[in-house]
Amino acid sequence: MNYNKNKLFIDKIAVDKIIKRFGTPTYCYSYNQLKENILNFKKNFYKINPLICFAVKANNNIKILNEIGRLGLGADVVSKGELMAALRSNINPRKIVFSGVGKTSNEIEFAAKKNILLINVESRSELITISKISNKISKSIDIGLRLNPNVDAKTIKEITTGKNSNKFGLNEKEVLDLLDEYKNSKFVNIKCLSVHIGSQITSHTPYLRTLNAMQKIIDKSKFRFEYIDLGGGMGINYGQENKLLNYKKYSNHISKFIKKNKVKIIFEPGRSIVGSTGYLLTKIIYIKKTNKVNFVILDTGMNDFIRPALYKAYHRIIPSKKSKKKIFKIHDFVGPICETTDKFLSVKTFQKLNEQDNIVICDVGAYGKVLSSNYNLRIGASEIMVKNSKVLRIRKKENLNSII
Ligand code: LLP
Repeated sequence: MNYNKNKLFIDKIAVDKIIKRFGTPTYCYSYNQLKENILNFKKNFYKINPLICFAVKANNNIKILNEIGRLGLGADVVSKGELMAALRSNINPRKIVFSGVGKTSNEIEFAAKKNILLINVESRSELITISKISNKISKSIDIGLRLNPNVDAKTIKEITTGKNSNKFGLNEKEVLDLLDEYKNSKFVNIKCLSVHIGSQITSHTPYLRTLNAMQKIIDKSKFRFEYIDLGGGMGINYGQENKLLNYKKYSNHISKFIKKNKVKIIFEPGRSIVGSTGYLLTKIIYIKKTNKVNFVILDTGMNDFIRPALYKAYHRIIPSKKSKKKIFKIHDFVGPICETTDKFLSVKTFQKLNEQDNIVICDVGAYGKVLSSNYNLRIGASEIMVKNSKVLRIRKKENLNSII
């Protein structure tokens, strides 16, 4: 994305042109950025040669999954729906892992029959269910045990997952007990120790603590795991972070861990693969001026993109046409939804704007469209992708009759 003669372009195509053809609100993804993010991720971890399973929860658009699969990644799924989407996108089942605290029998049986690489178990009850299903379908099932390492990822409180107070995974004692009880089971093959401590992590320290917690399990149990699944969580630069993850340090520590334990590493990145690929294209419906604030009312709302409302997440907002004229007044960029939290951003100054101007909300490729709804009975934003100088529609437009 860049400005040329004050006009905004996404991969060399003018945003105003895209909007003229596809309308607003629309999620627009850049294939180039997707490819670059994947290559960067691979480069950062080149030394440890991991299996990279994209966390489908971050973006489940079939076309995007298909491109991700073609660029060599597998998938981390958390429901039968996500598993079906990954399979339909031609992602190799041997590169798919299934996480989640509440997998139903139906979902487990479906996954087992599809021969996916691993089901990551999050409770004793789930393991009992998996054993029963194995017995029923006469097939042993490859599993991982998800450890809750009781490590604070030091990220947004709502998206931390690796503390004992969070619902995820098994504590150290439970993992050790289950290893003991199930290591010779004919129903399950324990192949992996997995973790995921949170999202938008910008320091390598919590990851190192997690590696130590995993080492402790290996040392205490003397169990030979084939895989270590380190989850995802790598933070990205939304524009306000004061530091970012040091991949080199993280990768070096993992290298040492591999040397010691002779394991294959799995990652489950979501945000770091797709976050920066997405733009939400929108139009100003009205500008409502009060004494203190200019409310810039957009044609997209928290139903399309909920991160600012849900986590107070910061997302840059930029105009499709740059102007030098500045207005020194608070601007609140809001949506049309009947909720006060339906606000994307508040800034102290902004360039002069007019009703009908086009506006872009940045870095919405992860946890954007997937978290959207039809709240207020609004048609959801459609999705398009810019690839090789072409713009393709990648999700069918909804219509009011189908959602009513
Ligand atoms: N693996 C597991 C088991 C997960 O639960 C998650 C994310 C990931 C991998 C991928 O994490 P990532 O690399 O994307 O950070 N809706 C929130 C984020 C929730 C993340 C949930 N789990 C947000 O918008 O910030």
